[in-house]
Amino acid sequence: MHNLNLSIILENEFFKEEYNMSSHPEPVKKLLISDLWAMKQEGKKITMITAYSYPQGLIVDEAGIDIILVGDSLGMVELGYKDTVPVTMEEMLHHTKAVVRAVNRAHIVGDMPFMSYNISVEQAVTNAGILYKEGGADSIKLEGGQEMADKVEAIHRAGIPVFGHIGLTPQTAALLGGFKVQGKSIENAKKTVDDAVALEEAGAFALILEAIPKQLAAIITEKVKIPTIGIGGGVECDGQVLVLHDMVGLFKRFTPKFVKVYADLYTQQTDAVKEYINDVQTATFPTDEQSFTMKQEAVDELRKILGM
Ligand code: KIV
Repeated sequence: MHNLNLSIILENEFFKEEYNMSSHPEPVKKLLISDLWAMKQEGKKITMITAYSYPQGLIVDEAGIDIILVGDSLGMVELGYKDTVPVTMEEMLHHTKAVVRAVNRAHIVGDMPFMSYNISVEQAVTNAGILYKEGGADSIKLEGGQEMADKVEAIHRAGIPVFGHIGLTPQTAALLGGFKVQGKSIENAKKTVDDAVALEEAGAFALILEAIPKQLAAIITEKVKIPTIGIGGGVECDGQVLVLHDMVGLFKRFTPKFVKVYADLYTQQTDAVKEYINDVQTATFPTDEQSFTMKQEAVDELRKILGM
């Protein structure tokens, strides 16, 4: 009679390590818009970065970032599009929900993709509502100045906080002569200041200033009461934002002048995969450390049953 009830697995712990998968194991307070306004008043710099996935949300929230932008830049850095124009509401919603599931403290901004708010006020409010209500973002962002003020006002009136974005607006870069520094002529600089004021008056709670001279960004920062967050706007802005993939070296296609690269994760990840390929090819992975084992008497018994 074969003993089929032998406890045959020696190492039966399935997980090597288990973590509390929360960006902050201790309860933390969610950052409110009033906290961001207080930071401007107190002269405390506001930190902002993009994230597009659950692990990226965990990482940047645990690091202590104040604002996370689920930016439509995901079209380029995560989805491989040429620019941000093709990004859809479905894609933004999918990625926003993933980040929202990860984050405890940071304020999360959901980015409105091109043509999700450009057609009419009604379309803008409807799609802002989807990102806010279904996606779970704490606010939404859209690109454009005075020409977008009616939409910003309507979304704000509907009860959804709006983040503005002026200067270089990537979704309409074709109309701005491509990816170029904005506000360089007196006329264009004055228009950029007017854009900032119009968005503040329409109810925007903060502004991104992209690729404008630092002196112009400083003037806007002094002129408006709401926080200004620079990306290529110089150090006088109330805070700074960067695209995560740019600053950790995961996006290699091009690097704008305003990016500071803090790590080379592309090379590190490529090297790790190369090492894994080599380990598998040379049978040096897995070792017993990564394997489950049976008692030898059970192995012998099984072989006997199988006639081997
Ligand atoms: O989509 C994005 O990442 C942005 C930043 C460039 C501010 O809008």
